Amino acid sequence: MIKNIFRLLIILTSISFSQGFKFAAMSDSRGSDNGVNTPVLTALTNHMLLNNPDLKFVVFAGDMVNGHKYDPERTKRELFHWKEVMAPVYNHPGIVWPGIWPAVGNHEIRHRDDENNFREVFQDVYMNGPKEQKGLSYSFDFGNSHFCVINTDAWYYGNLEDTTDDRPDWHYIKYMDWLENDLKSASERGMKHIFTFSHEMPFPIGGHLRDGLPNLGMKFNGTIDSTRQWYLDRSDKFWNLMKEYKADAHICGHEHTYGRQEVNGVFQVLNGSAGAPLYQFNPRPEDDTENFGYEMSYEDAIPYYEALKYNHGKGKNSQRSENFVGFRAFNYSIYEVLDDKVIVKTYGAYPKENSNTEIGTEIELIDEFIISK
Ligand SMILES: [Fe+2]
Repeated sequence: MIKNIFRLLIILTSISFSQGFKFAAMSDSRGSDNGVNTPVLTALTNHMLLNNPDLKFVVFAGDMVNGHKYDPERTKRELFHWKEVMAPVYNHPGIVWPGIWPAVGNHEIRHRDDENNFREVFQDVYMNGPKEQKGLSYSFDFGNSHFCVINTDAWYYGNLEDTTDDRPDWHYIKYMDWLENDLKSASERGMKHIFTFSHEMPFPIGGHLRDGLPNLGMKFNGTIDSTRQWYLDRSDKFWNLMKEYKADAHICGHEHTYGRQEVNGVFQVLNGSAGAPLYQFNPRPEDDTENFGYEMSYEDAIPYYEALKYNHGKGKNSQRSENFVGFRAFNYSIYEVLDDKVIVKTYGAYPKENSNTEIGTEIELIDEFIISK
């Protein structure tokens, strides 16, 4: 009898392990309804929940809302509104605590009070991050996988008592030691998969070629000064850690489009736009007259491509990796995590003609790839 119960337990355990679990990734939903693009975000989440009733949780990589530079109370209200819009996720049967794991984006951190407000809105995370970033950077295990959410858009780290100093200092991972220890410990615990998340990306794909983690700046002419070198080294260090600890993927946003590529054996998946105005890829198309934002012409972008070691050419989709796949679509991705692989499916909708904030097509499968372990 006991032997049979033991056998049954082994079978049940192996079934649940081989079946794996599903999580979703989204980013960038800011818009004009109280800081949120409610129609697009709602359409995507409804589609996601309807087609993935077994979803366990969502990770959202920042820029949920517009935020406001001078009115932190408004930013906070927008974040509470965002949570109301996302209520179907929080209330979905089978979703596990806390439902949505948030990452900080630059639009959430525009005022010195914003970090504490973010903590107040999103209290349900683990407080295991670096001392200054409790509740903003954190990590957790789920099943056979480790998840690490990294704050890349922190407020200025100077003397917070100095009220005359109002500089934000964005776009880098300050606590690299914490990250390294976290990845090392996950690896030593035998975690089969490692996923990291942050708003900023090491490999910009479009409108933010000037910033992201390499942070080359607005007027880069090809001369890499010591500040730029510091950012480049830090971004490289991050990716080297990802490679060293055999991470599956880094999931990010900030650029409002979809793009995935494998760099040194690790995937960067950029899930920008669950509603934020859609961007173009590098370089900006020559014949396109729409105003997309910060995309550059090919000639202007050359120093950036060179410093970032990108494949590039006029009219080419100029990206770090040859295996880049991208679509200018509102999107979300589903990660089906199995023992020896992860099946990633991205669903997206293209914009209405002459609009970069409204959905114009059905939401459909736009990309599928496998991360093998
Ligand atoms: Fe952003």
